[in-house]
Amino acid sequence: MSLSQLEIIEPVSGEHNLPNYPEVRRHFDWEDAKIGLSFNETGKLNIAYETIDRHVHDGHGDKTALHYVNGDERISYTFKEVKEKTDHYARVLKENGVVKGDRVFVFLPKTPECYIAILSVIKIGAIAGPLFEAFMEDAVRDRMNDCNASLLITDKDMVERVPKEDIPSLETILFAEDIEAETDGDTVEEYVEWMDPEDGMLIHYTSGSTGKPKGVLHAHRVVSHQYQSGKWVLDIKDDDVYWCTSHPGWVTGSVYGLFAPWLNRATIVIQGGRFKAEHWYKLIAELKVSIWYSAPTAFRMLLSQGDVLKDYDLSSLRHILSVGEPLNPEVIYWAWEELGVRIHDTWWMTETGAHLVVNLPGEKIKPGSMGRPFPGVEVGILDEAGEIVKRGTTGQLAVRTPWPGLMKEIWGNKDKFDSYFKYEGWYLSGDLAYQDEEDYVFFQSRDDDMINSSGERIGPFEVESKLIEHEAIQEAGVIGKPDKVRGEIVKAFIVLREGFEQSPELLQEIRVFVRNNLAAHVAPKEIEVMEELPKTTISGKILRRELKKWEIEKAG
Ligand code: WTA
Repeated sequence: MSLSQLEIIEPVSGEHNLPNYPEVRRHFDWEDAKIGLSFNETGKLNIAYETIDRHVHDGHGDKTALHYVNGDERISYTFKEVKEKTDHYARVLKENGVVKGDRVFVFLPKTPECYIAILSVIKIGAIAGPLFEAFMEDAVRDRMNDCNASLLITDKDMVERVPKEDIPSLETILFAEDIEAETDGDTVEEYVEWMDPEDGMLIHYTSGSTGKPKGVLHAHRVVSHQYQSGKWVLDIKDDDVYWCTSHPGWVTGSVYGLFAPWLNRATIVIQGGRFKAEHWYKLIAELKVSIWYSAPTAFRMLLSQGDVLKDYDLSSLRHILSVGEPLNPEVIYWAWEELGVRIHDTWWMTETGAHLVVNLPGEKIKPGSMGRPFPGVEVGILDEAGEIVKRGTTGQLAVRTPWPGLMKEIWGNKDKFDSYFKYEGWYLSGDLAYQDEEDYVFFQSRDDDMINSSGERIGPFEVESKLIEHEAIQEAGVIGKPDKVRGEIVKAFIVLREGFEQSPELLQEIRVFVRNNLAAHVAPKEIEVMEELPKTTISGKILRRELKKWEIEKAG
């Protein structure tokens, strides 16, 4: 029987950090997830301390904390070095007047400094706002203005994309190069501010189907969820080399690129530069990466490169995980056949702080399913009345509240926050899914107009607002068009103003306009000019669903 006819892939043999899921799930209590963390003994909490300093105090300062790879460049730091660097950054931040609760943004490429800057902000009790490195002026401005950021850590290249005069709250810009160069005056002093579990630590801006991106605020209490999921789902052991490909500006890059692996004392890989199959495989072979967390689009791109992987020794890989968009079974079979390992899909959201539905290395997987609830998590598939539906029936994917990773608030937007909890006792994800008799959850689609391209959330409203700022555009409707590699691509339907003629040059100009102001990944890959857009008769709102239906029917 060929693999693609198999419906189930049996567990991988070997010792796993969670060997008996059904049993643990029955008895697990979130209090258990604190065991091993220092605040559980001392009563003093700061997630940055738990992430790095704790290991140094426990005698593991000489263990390698990170390998940085960018082209031919190689840098490695021990946990002691990372701790010293975060103390140094912390001192500089304090000297610049940062106090507990301030919002401090970090706008840096994927370098060790980016990770260190984020940790140092949190260490002194401020709230870190990591920004994706490809953001352009408007994206940077909107996010920092929304939560009145007072300080920004960036570098001398990226500062060109920071419109300082449009961000009134921004008092100080620090350059990572300068912080690195200035080492005088460091003392052995520690700069840890002890926090209440409910104090804010991290703010990630994320898109929905309406309005501008929202600031999802996480509190220090998230630590136990991130720690426990790092242990069980990432399955980190002491000799692992762990690589998460996401930038810390996205929640996967911060939670599973930085916090969860380092809470579990993993040696992590930070890779600079763009995606290229040869570079990725070379990195895995050279650093002997054993755990690898990436996204379906990346796996599909690798798959489409065919035999390139045969030139590399990838035998160090023992555990692969995926997140962010539907993982098609074809990709799982490819990895199983070519690499001899399964890909473990995981489901969670920026708002949820850590994994909620997971595939564990010690359990069978059903290709096409995102897995089963993490211990301590109860999933419900709800109908429109908020009632649980029959197994196998598609409904709204909801999660029983609370759990430690759940966001604390949406910055300055209580209505939006409340909209996630419209059914008493449940968090509503906005995804549609069904659950089978064995508790496996199968993603179906979004329940709203949010676009998911290459695993990145894109709000159609943000793109539409930018489009209509262009002088040639009267109206715009933006949708996700299904795409074999990227899941979806951004497609814009526009109506031109009087006096403008459609031409390839004009469409290209519009595309560049969005790319240069917002970010490349949100710029429409396709633009179609229409005479008019479908609208509701009463409110005149553009019907994106009609556009999408029309697009899909057209594609046949
Ligand atoms: C989608 C990323 C299918 C989903 C951690 C969710 C997924 C949104 C999966 C959150 C998965 C995430 N299969 N879809 N395994 N994981 N999604 O906030 O629609 O960037 O609501 O968090 O991505 O995206 P976010």
